[in-house]
Amino acid sequence: MTTLTLVDTDPADLTADAIVVGVHSPDGDGGLLLAPGAESIAAAFDGRLVPTLALLGATGATGEVTKLATLGTVTAPLVAAVGLGPAPAAGVPAAETLRRAAGSAARALAGCEEIVLTLPLDEADEPAGVRVLAEGALLGAYRFAGYKTKPQPGRRDPVRRVAVHVPDAADKAVKAELRRAAAVVEAVARARDWVNTAPNVLRPPDFADEVAAAAAKAGLEVEVLDDKALRRGGYGGIMAVGQGSEAPPRLVRIAYTPDGGPRSAGGPRSAGGPRSAGAARVALVGKGITFDSGGVSIKPAQGMWEMKCDMAGAAAVAATMLAIAATKPRVAVTAYLPMAENMPSGSSYRPGDVVTMFNGKKVEVLNTDAEGRMILGDAIARACADGADYLLETSTLTGGQVIALGKRVAGVMGTAELCERVRAAGDRVGEPAWPMPLPDDVRKGMDSDVADIAQVNAGMDRAGHMLQGGVFLSEFVASEVAWAHIDIAGPAYHTAEATGYWARGGTGVPVRTLLEVIEDIAAHG
Ligand code: BES
Ligand code: MN
Ligand code: ZN
Repeated sequence: MTTLTLVDTDPADLTADAIVVGVHSPDGDGGLLLAPGAESIAAAFDGRLVPTLALLGATGATGEVTKLATLGTVTAPLVAAVGLGPAPAAGVPAAETLRRAAGSAARALAGCEEIVLTLPLDEADEPAGVRVLAEGALLGAYRFAGYKTKPQPGRRDPVRRVAVHVPDAADKAVKAELRRAAAVVEAVARARDWVNTAPNVLRPPDFADEVAAAAAKAGLEVEVLDDKALRRGGYGGIMAVGQGSEAPPRLVRIAYTPDGGPRSAGGPRSAGGPRSAGAARVALVGKGITFDSGGVSIKPAQGMWEMKCDMAGAAAVAATMLAIAATKPRVAVTAYLPMAENMPSGSSYRPGDVVTMFNGKKVEVLNTDAEGRMILGDAIARACADGADYLLETSTLTGGQVIALGKRVAGVMGTAELCERVRAAGDRVGEPAWPMPLPDDVRKGMDSDVADIAQVNAGMDRAGHMLQGGVFLSEFVASEVAWAHIDIAGPAYHTAEATGYWARGGTGVPVRTLLEVIEDIAAHG
């Protein structure tokens, strides 16, 4: 992976391959504008930097990268100007603008050994700014190794080292943020790698083994339930979905306990009383369908290959646990990862089946392609049975999420306060998520003639599809648990050309949101 460092010497004298400066688009009749951070480079060019960038076609638009050969003007052979859009009226550009700009720059500079970012930093909160730039650049440099047997001509290796230019490279708080950014990006990259792995290489037993090995290596407690244990344990939903595949299902449980245990609440927790910070128990649940063919209710062939991403929720949750092992928040976190392959075969579950779930509820199956909620219902019920104050679940659950909110914004359903915390956390880290309701009438539409609940609207009405998913899952959450279901069908997988710090393929959403919410819970309960 790309490594991170800090530098505080004059950028004009640095021996890196490229110095990245920010450039704002003209406003009104003004010209292209250099962003703060570029001063010493601009001085070395003696007034010629901006006009030359303009001649090269730079407009300052976000995502644009213009490379300029310095030919001895400064020590580094290249200056790269990255567009930051219009200059803000005051202060520095929005965090996500800077994150994406750093990502675009790192990707455009593939082939360089080392690049230095001299981009705007908020003087009032420098550590946070460094974290934003470091995360963006490292995520932008990410590339999936892939399976090509021959080296690709012209394909340049990802940037090896990213240095962030700061006023004082010895500043302890800044160094801590840099270490944190490295741990977070390593986790996001791990989630992306899992999502991008071909589905024949990562079937449920393989995925469980890989996750368990990574978690054990990180010092976390791990337990893997195989198909025998799942049958014995009454995990009817996971077994039903998994029974159509020759690769049997799994449920992986990963536990993190802070050193010295969670901060004590000072005696037994009183129901409804204030919860002391750090005493809360958080459960994470992630959908791990290693491939979703739809099963007997099979999907159309076009685009079916993208359904290798249907384990993105489990990948994100597993990766979040690895980051937690590194960053050590003061809160207990347990992850539940149900894994299955949804395939059509003589042993598949079928529409009309009635399945007994882990919590005893009977579900009438109407569409085997609504498999996510079957495995998640079990995992959520198990998490609640173990005891949890907060439950965060994430899944590529419904095509309806993509229709409603598009490819960038996740849908969040659950208890209002936790949904709002997820939205706010997502906003801070650049993983937008928007609260969605769980209406009564949608639940009514899922009444079954024969079982406790139908798996989808009994009339196969697709109205409010995303909400049907959330409503179904709510049946498996214990009443005292604050919960949020994060539907990432759109944002988990990027199918368009690379942009900002997203390459094509797995995005690692919502690893950074989950970490942010967990830190929020550790701090405030
Ligand atoms: N994995 C899919 C949802 C999905 C769609 C994820 C697009 C990523 C991109 C899920 O299992 C599914 O098939 N959902 C169906 C449910 C329906 C049959 C009730 C859907 O949304 O169409
Ligand atoms: Mn499906
Ligand atoms: Zn699915």
